[in-house]
Amino acid sequence: MCGIIGATGSDEVLDLLLEGLARLEYRGYDSAGVALQHDGTLWRARAATGTRSLEDLRKVVPDDPLTVTAGIGHTRWATHGHPTEANAHPLLDCSGTVAVVHNGIIENWRGHTLASETDTEVIAHLVEEELAGGSSLAEAVRATLRVMRGAFALAVLCANEPGTIVAGRRVSPLVIGAGEQGQGLLASDIPALLGRTRRFWVLDDDQIVELRPGSMRVTTLAGKEVEPNELHVDWDIEAAEKGGFPDFMGKEIHEQPRAVADTLLGRLLPDGTLALDELRITDDELRRIDKVFVVACGTSYHAGMVAKYAIEHWTRLPVDVDIASEFRYRDPVLDNRTLVVGVSQSGETIDTLRAMREARQGEAKVMVISNVVDSSMARDADGVMYTRAGPEVGVAATKTHLAQVTALELLALYLAQLRGTLAPADVGLLVGRLAELPELIERILQRERDAAVSGEPSPVATVAARLADTRDFFFLGRHVGFPVALEGALKLKEISYLRAEGYPAGELKHGPIALIVPGTVVVGVATRTELWDKMMSNIAEVRARGATVVLVANDGDTETAEQADEVLWVPETHPLFAPILDVVPLQLLAYHIARLRGHDVDRPRNLAKTVTVE
Ligand code: AGP
Repeated sequence: MCGIIGATGSDEVLDLLLEGLARLEYRGYDSAGVALQHDGTLWRARAATGTRSLEDLRKVVPDDPLTVTAGIGHTRWATHGHPTEANAHPLLDCSGTVAVVHNGIIENWRGHTLASETDTEVIAHLVEEELAGGSSLAEAVRATLRVMRGAFALAVLCANEPGTIVAGRRVSPLVIGAGEQGQGLLASDIPALLGRTRRFWVLDDDQIVELRPGSMRVTTLAGKEVEPNELHVDWDIEAAEKGGFPDFMGKEIHEQPRAVADTLLGRLLPDGTLALDELRITDDELRRIDKVFVVACGTSYHAGMVAKYAIEHWTRLPVDVDIASEFRYRDPVLDNRTLVVGVSQSGETIDTLRAMREARQGEAKVMVISNVVDSSMARDADGVMYTRAGPEVGVAATKTHLAQVTALELLALYLAQLRGTLAPADVGLLVGRLAELPELIERILQRERDAAVSGEPSPVATVAARLADTRDFFFLGRHVGFPVALEGALKLKEISYLRAEGYPAGELKHGPIALIVPGTVVVGVATRTELWDKMMSNIAEVRARGATVVLVANDGDTETAEQADEVLWVPETHPLFAPILDVVPLQLLAYHIARLRGHDVDRPRNLAKTVTVE
């Protein structure tokens, strides 16, 4: 996730860009940059100093501003290429007359010689080629976007067309604004422009806008002029940064379809195979692996537990999942045929980092699944696979968790494809099911938003209201439902401060059932898998002891619903992908209970987003 901004028709283009970038920093802060059109040339400045990037960018822009006709800016959360100045946007074509800022992922960037490691740079070169053939900037951008695959919101500036910015989008967001003095504005998000205008329009997929002082023209990629949709915006700036949600956690839960879709992007090929070519570990090395360890903490550990089921089932490789803080003290058996996978959204958690270092000393091949490009773990490891959830502000991990499980499922399928333990046709079928997941997550979240629009409490908020005074919760699941239960319990503990135990449902009768009394709330993951009958027997055991039963069930499954006091509905998918859907209502349940109890869900007590002490 990155933030883009553009402005024309103003004496204060540079101020406008820097002010907007500050408001877009929540979308990424690995680097920041601007390109300004000045006297028939482009002037560019960039800084890649992490959280100080914008501050450092301000130091390199002139105090006495140039005469600027138009400008574009960018704040980056790296997904493709290291977070260096060379990879910071705006990126230029060969001649330095075209500058591009981009949010999203271009899938078909290969085949061009690029000066940076980014997928974005290819856009500048394609626009350059079109301009050389005599096209206008707008025609050149249209032609380029017709051949681009992937997700993008982008803005392009050309030295030879003073005052003009051409921008377009597919999937990634882009809003257009109009200032009262004829300023033409654009940004990834409303908050970036709120101080300057309240008149906004949204572009649809595969539309471009030509912004000039006092004018705006929107066309399809075929060049047909269209009327863009105007937005009515009455948010204040703080609400706008949270996308209209009361907090970042709520916003991030609703960003999960995008986080999963972006993590899949470019990795599922149209022929039904998978490509993980940024992994840095060769296919030959992966073929030689005979055992896998996953090391992680907290929510990331729960993602790792899901991976165990998937990797073992599809590849027949034995997998151990270890809590990272325990791993290095238990003398694990490692050699050069062992693959150790660290899972960490921050890539900085010291327990996981140390466990990975221990594994390297034991000659294992070590890779990390991380949401932060060039994090300590990414630099330390032999291999890396990035999740693309964008920055997560809420301390309780939500969208990064779904992205982690998605990445781990991809890894499991990739290993199976490579080692031939799954037939290509089966890989193709599973790839198809994976691709459906963003839409299925959206379905769960849309029900919540529909309720909000009608002023009703949402389905999960209604259940939460009935449970908000309960002090003791049990979360039960079997098979991949077990890590989902653990994650549901962890979310509730973290933000609601309520006791919540996660258990494998079959283990209950070996002790913890003694704690079930009338009024205890038992939340069961009861979506349809081969173990559904057994799960329902365990639910019958707690019902017989007076528990209040809440079940996560597949849409329309009345047989499951009959055994529950409350139901949290989710769509059906392949059983090994079910954790990606089943955990969503449990995140929402924790979220609503915490809010009903008056807690700050973004900053829970005693917790830090990144834990860098042992
Ligand atoms: C998740 O909600 C927690 N904040 C915590 O358990 C977290 O998952 C854990 O500290 C690991 O962090 P990491 O993914 O950044 O390594």
